[in-house]
Amino acid sequence: MFEPIDANQIQLNSDGQLKHFLTTEGLSRALLTEILDTADSFLDMSEQQVKKVPLLRGKTVANLFFENSTRTLSTFELAAKRLSADVLNLNISTSSTAKGETLRDTLMTLEAMHADMFVVRHSDSGAAHFIAKHVTPNVAVINAGDGRHAHPTQAMLDMLTIRRHKGDFAPLTVAIVGDILHSRVARSQIHALRTLGAGEVRVIAPKTLLPRHIEAFGVKVFTDMAEGLKDVDVVMMLRLQKERMNSALLPSESEFYKLYGLTEEKLAIAKPDSVVLHPGPINRGVEIATSVADGPRSLILNQVTNGIAVRMAVMSMAVSGQMVEKQNARQGDNA
Ligand code: CP
Repeated sequence: MFEPIDANQIQLNSDGQLKHFLTTEGLSRALLTEILDTADSFLDMSEQQVKKVPLLRGKTVANLFFENSTRTLSTFELAAKRLSADVLNLNISTSSTAKGETLRDTLMTLEAMHADMFVVRHSDSGAAHFIAKHVTPNVAVINAGDGRHAHPTQAMLDMLTIRRHKGDFAPLTVAIVGDILHSRVARSQIHALRTLGAGEVRVIAPKTLLPRHIEAFGVKVFTDMAEGLKDVDVVMMLRLQKERMNSALLPSESEFYKLYGLTEEKLAIAKPDSVVLHPGPINRGVEIATSVADGPRSLILNQVTNGIAVRMAVMSMAVSGQMVEKQNARQGDNA
């Protein structure tokens, strides 16, 4: 575990622009909206025949995934390529990390190859902050998920998906359902939804899967699906993160499904035009029924598509924020 750090001291440049993207916590509504607007323009571009822009031409992006990933790694790679960057995917299982090299030594080695951006997934909360704190100036760090702490690009692609289907956040009641305790996605979603002005944010979970003092995040807490799903516009399901559970927190998966699995019967409690999101990977028959995951109200595959655009947005904004920082530093030196 790394020491906690005030992220905005690190992730914003002296003009308040993004130069790393570590967490949605503490970012302004204007900045989150800028990410969504920029992503919207990239989504429009992805419908065109030529899907590439030269915004990161000449830049090198290194994807450092110390944990498994399908969606995040592949959409970051595609996003970087659509921005015309050179992309290096470090295979951690065959890298020198597996021979005992420290994270810092791995980073210094990659910095010596003049990487301009690190996209990092790590099982330790705070890993991306640690790297951003120690990286060479003008190298951007994007958090692709750190422990239980944050998964900011996932939250922003969820926000883009909601905005494209529901418009304004203000009238919406949004329920986040399942393993809140171990979920970096839920934390990033809650910060983003609250900052973007969602009318009501709920969490629904058994007591054993709720963090203590979760109310302090500004959410309403429910332990019963029938109560929690009433009048909901958006249902955001979460996976049981068994890899982060160090004790038996549930009687069984089948019991969990009975009480908290999103079936068509339970979804009928929410508003008739409600939509269903899930960050993936989905576990059918554990937290969600196949008929719901593949049903007309599911936006799960839209989320994946939107993920490319959101990742293009934050990568291009961070590179631009680093350039401004460099110019400001030069002007400071010459003053
Ligand atoms: N949602 C998400 O982070 O999926 P992956 O683990 O496949 O990247």
